[in-house]
Amino acid sequence: MMKIGTPLSANATKIMLLGSGELGKEVIIALQRFGVEVIAVDRYPNAPGHQVAHLAYVIDMADGKALRALIEKHKPRIVVPEIEAIATEMLTRIEADGLAEVIPTARAAHLTMNREGIRRLAAEELALPTSRYAFAESASEIRIAAENLGYPCIVKPVMSSSGKGQSTLHSPEDIDKAWDYAMTSGRVNRGRVIVEEMIRFDYEITLLTVRAIGENGKVKTSFCDPIGHVQVKGDYVESWQPQPMSETALWRARDIAKKVTDNLGGRGVFGVEMFVKDDHVWFSEVSPRPHDTGMVTMITQVQNEFELHARAILGLPVNTELRTPGASAVIYGELEAKGIAFEGVDEALRVPHSDIRLFGKPESFAKRRMGVALAYAHTVKEARDRAKLAASKVRPVKL
Ligand SMILES: Nc1ncnc2c1ncn2[C@@H]1O[C@H](COP(=O)(O)OP(=O)(O)OP(=O)(O)O)[C@@H](O)[C@H]1O
Ligand SMILES: [Mg+2]
Repeated sequence: MMKIGTPLSANATKIMLLGSGELGKEVIIALQRFGVEVIAVDRYPNAPGHQVAHLAYVIDMADGKALRALIEKHKPRIVVPEIEAIATEMLTRIEADGLAEVIPTARAAHLTMNREGIRRLAAEELALPTSRYAFAESASEIRIAAENLGYPCIVKPVMSSSGKGQSTLHSPEDIDKAWDYAMTSGRVNRGRVIVEEMIRFDYEITLLTVRAIGENGKVKTSFCDPIGHVQVKGDYVESWQPQPMSETALWRARDIAKKVTDNLGGRGVFGVEMFVKDDHVWFSEVSPRPHDTGMVTMITQVQNEFELHARAILGLPVNTELRTPGASAVIYGELEAKGIAFEGVDEALRVPHSDIRLFGKPESFAKRRMGVALAYAHTVKEARDRAKLAASKVRPVKL
């Protein structure tokens, strides 16, 4: 176990977050509670995590030179990527040069920032079940792929998240539009997309998987209860825990998660996304960090996913126990404006067994996630109803 120093002193245990959105903010709070000195980095000022860290910086994290300069300046012992869009080649060099430890590993950050990296690892190297897929670099290559995979199928830029640039092809007529959308909405225009067979799943899950140091000093894997969720246009709107699963499906999901996370290595929380139909389970993708659908654990677990991440990072023991069934529902900005306000928080909190998080983002967009409502109950159904009701009571307004 590593020693923890005194923040803002010469022996401080320093950790740098790369990405300081709502997920990073909660990781920072968890680290702060252990007396860690936290440096929060994001691409814009006053990001949620900036507001709760010791130090806050604004840089372009895709710029390797700027990233290295900041790490050399502060010499954090550990660097924690919270987003995918980072100069991961530079992270690999920083790790190799012994400048800082990257969570979970620089290789994991690198492989998962590009759909091709993680998909080839899962399907081709680890032989895990996935949707059938092909890569394409033009509309005509998409056509060939789609004919092979069958309609409907899904097109996604290789570098994107939160459903950006993703579309469903129902027929060849949809191809040109899908290609243009992928090329203009991806994070980095790589001119490359993945075309995936559409899986007709019964439900989809995030299996939070934690790699933390066990009693014998070696990394031990533990699993949270599966989280079910609803996605609209590739973005999560609602999640709940536990998602009921057959014994066989749960066993298979854990087996898949174990194989992927064993390969990625390091310490920390992973969000393993999978599709389930009857007893069949398909691997979809994995975040080597807490997952947005996992915000539900802020009300359901003894240690939420952010606390689990902080503990795993610091080499401390973890407990993935579920305390109660619960649910989360996203609160959107609805407005396009800076410095908005929220009405109805009191009404939301009058919904029994509910709670609210407002992230403090400086600017609102119609579909920007500005907060989340949480609720617990004896059943998932009741918890979902409460979380949705609480979310609906919060009204974004202009001052
Ligand atoms: N092959 C598929 N078959 C059926 N549904 C799919 C498939 N691929 C993606 N989806 C649906 O689209 C959602 C988003 O896809 P995916 O997770 O690949 O994109 P993303 O942009 O990385 O999203 P996020 O960053 O929010 O996880 C999935 O959660 C699922 O609901
Ligand atoms: Mg996803």
